[in-house]
Amino acid sequence: MAELIACLPGDGIGPEVTVEALRVLASLPLEVDVLELPFGGAAIDAFGEPLPAETLAACRDADAVLLGAVGGPRWDGGAVRPEAGLLGLRQALDVYANLRPAVHGQVDLLIVRELVGGLYFGERGVRDDGTAFDTCEYHPSQVERVARRAFELARTRRRRLVSVDKANVLETSRLWRRVVSELSSEYPDVELRHALVDSFAIEVALAPETLDVVVTENMFGDILSDLASGVTGGLGLAASASLGDTAPGIFEPIHGSAPDIAGTGTANPAAMIRSLALALEHAFGRSDLADVVGRAVDDALAGAPTPDQGGAATTTEFGDAVLASLEHRLTTEERTWATTPS
Ligand code: NAD
Ligand code: IPM
Ligand code: MN
Repeated sequence: MAELIACLPGDGIGPEVTVEALRVLASLPLEVDVLELPFGGAAIDAFGEPLPAETLAACRDADAVLLGAVGGPRWDGGAVRPEAGLLGLRQALDVYANLRPAVHGQVDLLIVRELVGGLYFGERGVRDDGTAFDTCEYHPSQVERVARRAFELARTRRRRLVSVDKANVLETSRLWRRVVSELSSEYPDVELRHALVDSFAIEVALAPETLDVVVTENMFGDILSDLASGVTGGLGLAASASLGDTAPGIFEPIHGSAPDIAGTGTANPAAMIRSLALALEHAFGRSDLADVVGRAVDDALAGAPTPDQGGAATTTEFGDAVLASLEHRLTTEERTWATTPS
């Protein structure tokens, strides 16, 4: 039976990079149906809400969700923000483990960001005196499930895990540290280290090649993953996979809608195409195809870099280069091999 992808292009460069990922998908020896759905600011304009019920229902029914980006100045100050749709979708699908790889040269690190708890989802409001507040809460089970995922991933890699927190100040961080420490007895083969987020940021900036897997809470993971992308080629390259215990996962770049370059045709679609590769690997169990797509993206980065990479290729030209490389790499033999599920 054909796989089903729910595709949410969103706003700004979201639709521009999504088109390229869909072209790549269409060129693969894989049976997939793609359903495009309104989401984010575009859905606010059309339906008054960023995550229409039909969009959520279709995502629940899909095998994977491929998402561009949402947001932009156009919707700032409105009653509801496009970003609320993104948070609502993550929460509804309970995709608690957000895998954010940063790979470049000697660097091969993986940030596992808790995605459906913490400051993003705690009680918030504005008191009568004008004080605004956001609260950070974690239940031990929320920490345990994402930490377990990180330990398991570390086992498939270099077996080193850093748990990042702010245990010298925050109660939630002390809980985080305790739960992760207790869990480590189940993973004696994985070397665990705890680090405080402020000094750990220096490690990411200055010694990223020493890091393997990093696990951290929602807000720290948001910031550290943009930083990690900065030392491995930039936001235009950085993909992510958001996974729960059951399908579907969400596959999206870590970058936003880039309003400053939207409409210029210069956005780098590499992060989006790499997110598609993560979907091939994690949602469809096709690491063979994910590898080929990853190598085709590397070829395009070398041959047709976009302006963020110091080149002059347009978004479409980069996509063309990926397709050309895929055409070359997916030989008749490889196609036959790739169509046979392992
Ligand atoms: P951003 O990631 O959109 O852009 C930051 C900088 O990186 C900009 O200079 C941009 O041009 C550049 N950039 C990002 N992606 C690029 C790409 N693929 N190719 C080339 N250059 C790229 O972050 P921002 O400007 O802080 O946020 C803009 C909007 O996006 C905000 O509304 C924010 O909430 C939203 N946002 C959405 C998501 C998402 O939907 N997953 C993620 C992050 C930010
Ligand atoms: C990301 C984005 C989102 C986040 C925003 C747009 C809600 O920055 O995916 O990193 O903070 O999670
Ligand atoms: Mn972010």
